[in-house]
Amino acid sequence: MSLKIIPGHRHYPLLERWIAPLAKRLLPRRPVLWRFARKRVGWPARLRMVHLSDLHCAAWTTESFVCSVVERSLAERPDLILWTGDFFHSSLGEMRRIMPLFRELHQAVPTYGVLGNHDYDDDVDAIRAILEDCGIRLLCGEVVSLDIGGLRVRLGGIEDYYTMGRPVPAELFPREGCDFRILLSHQPSYVRQLPPNAVDLMLAGHLHGGQVRFPLVGPIYLPQMRGFEFLGKELCVVEGNPVHTSQGLGYTLLPLRFRCPPAISVIEIVPAAETVEAVRECAAEVV
Ligand SMILES: [Fe+2]
Repeated sequence: MSLKIIPGHRHYPLLERWIAPLAKRLLPRRPVLWRFARKRVGWPARLRMVHLSDLHCAAWTTESFVCSVVERSLAERPDLILWTGDFFHSSLGEMRRIMPLFRELHQAVPTYGVLGNHDYDDDVDAIRAILEDCGIRLLCGEVVSLDIGGLRVRLGGIEDYYTMGRPVPAELFPREGCDFRILLSHQPSYVRQLPPNAVDLMLAGHLHGGQVRFPLVGPIYLPQMRGFEFLGKELCVVEGNPVHTSQGLGYTLLPLRFRCPPAISVIEIVPAAETVEAVRECAAEVV
């Protein structure tokens, strides 16, 4: 399907180019790792996922930072790389400069992804082509079945829900015929559209961890002034659906972060002897 959406977000390419030299010197040189594990009863093996999000390829995105993301991700020896959108920031040229640097990672590990709201700010067909050329299998309202070392994983993905409005196919939800159900959605709040207990893990992005987080005050730089409940936690559980929201790798509008570094999430599902509910232990329940 060919789809082009008129740009809906304002960018300032001249400002971006002007501040990029300074930003390149000041921004973090490498991402931090945000690592957590969940236990699951009857689980036969370890499933390790690297979750990347919100790169926002811009003039201040350096090759050395991207190489560090690739290096740290490969070092985790993941079974899957999962992207949750917002690759684009201001120009296709920046995407063509940056995204091929991920090819080594995507060729080494099966990689899936979904688009975010910013990926519709330019020619979305060209953006899809760049991403697929560097080895990302994009899920646009699709569900795929994977066999990972004998584990039957069902993986679904939707484009940015508030741009496209297309829900994930219900074929993702049945427990029968698979060991683990994963949903990729750029918007964490999409979890509220799901039926109860529909997925075993949902991965999301969009919020950038708040980007600027002051003590006591909290995040002040969210892409939208909602979604605070998804910040700073490994998992939030909404009606039985656990959602992890990435802190993101890039920057929205301006290259600012404070007490909220760019991050790679590393998520493991490991065997447990306790009850099946152990997979959700320590998770905050959000009503
Ligand atoms: Fe973003």
